Amino acid sequence: SVLEMEVEQIKKGSYDHFMQKEIHEQPHSLTTTMRGRLKDSGVVLGGLKEHLKTLRRSRRVIFIGCGTSYNAALAARPFVEELTGIPVTMEVASDLLDRQGPIYREDTAVFVSQSGETADTLLALEYALEKGALCVGVTNTVGSTLSRKTHCGIHINAGCEIGVASTKAYTSQIVVMAMIALAIGSDQLSTQPRRESIITGLSSLPSMKNWINDLPCSQTKCHVSEDAEMKDLASSLIDSESLLVFGRGYNYATALEGALKVKEVALMHSEGMLAGEMKHGPLALVDENLPIIVIATRDSCFSKQKSVIQQLLSRKGRLIIMCSEGDISAVGPSASCRVIQVPEVADCLQPVINIIPLQLLAYHLTVLRGFDVDQPRNLAKSVTTQ
Ligand code: G6P
Repeated sequence: SVLEMEVEQIKKGSYDHFMQKEIHEQPHSLTTTMRGRLKDSGVVLGGLKEHLKTLRRSRRVIFIGCGTSYNAALAARPFVEELTGIPVTMEVASDLLDRQGPIYREDTAVFVSQSGETADTLLALEYALEKGALCVGVTNTVGSTLSRKTHCGIHINAGCEIGVASTKAYTSQIVVMAMIALAIGSDQLSTQPRRESIITGLSSLPSMKNWINDLPCSQTKCHVSEDAEMKDLASSLIDSESLLVFGRGYNYATALEGALKVKEVALMHSEGMLAGEMKHGPLALVDENLPIIVIATRDSCFSKQKSVIQQLLSRKGRLIIMCSEGDISAVGPSASCRVIQVPEVADCLQPVINIIPLQLLAYHLTVLRGFDVDQPRNLAKSVTTQ
């Protein structure tokens, strides 16, 4: 109805689409995610307090989710392992159910779901409860089935997300899992300096310079923003049949999530790939036409990514390189490469920053290709049937 349409427009404010609004909202949503939880001395997570001891004693952490929520958990895996010393395994909810994979009383199962209502995730929760694991929920929805049925958990407080493709919930989920890792690891003296640098990194996230403008590029006339750059990049990719994204380490998840955004909203074939697997198949696809995004921001995998770039260039790959600000010469692209520069943050938090340009890219690609941004063909915001 006309009324419904007007209400929609009011909720969107000065933005054209909810996805666009939600991407640009992230400095704010990350602030509300961390509000009252981040202290100089550590993190305070009321929702976990009673269960921290059990969590620390668990033999294994199992992350369970679907879609973007699975990818957020994958982004968290490296730092959860690092800060807690507990092995982490990953489960796509439907696959865990298909296999009826083993879960034990000594396991902690962490369920990640924006809506808290995804059918497969909830069935996996029932399964893990039956097996006697400690079940932790990470969700954006207060009062959801997930938050009611888990033993404990943390709300991500990212605010209502309306666009079918998840954006701000993804970054808030990663931040919440960083805080969970900090809380579990807080009894370990040896990692204290590392924890302190992550806490500093977390508090700097919402205000990162040049990260993203509050307003989309159509409304900022004076300078080139990351948004405008991604729009320009999108226009160069508009007719591509496919887009690959290579990442590794902390940013393997960024590659999967960037590709998921492109396929779900821009309706373009896209795959995120582990750069370490490049020689085991994907390299055969490389030619001068197929666009490939390579994530090469600074972390312990940097030199390996540099050599991936060299190998792709020697096969005439059409590269788009994501690197840390001011790092172009260190990465060594050729003149034909496009470059996306992002601000540098504590390495394990870099996925929170790196996904933003890819979200913007998917958004602009969708608008330029003339597809529905907020309600992509065949998809639903919350998948409540199996
Ligand atoms: C659907 C949505 C995705 C979302 C996934 C998991 O596929 O379109 O954006 O990532 O469900 O949803 P959840 O609410 O469990 O995070």
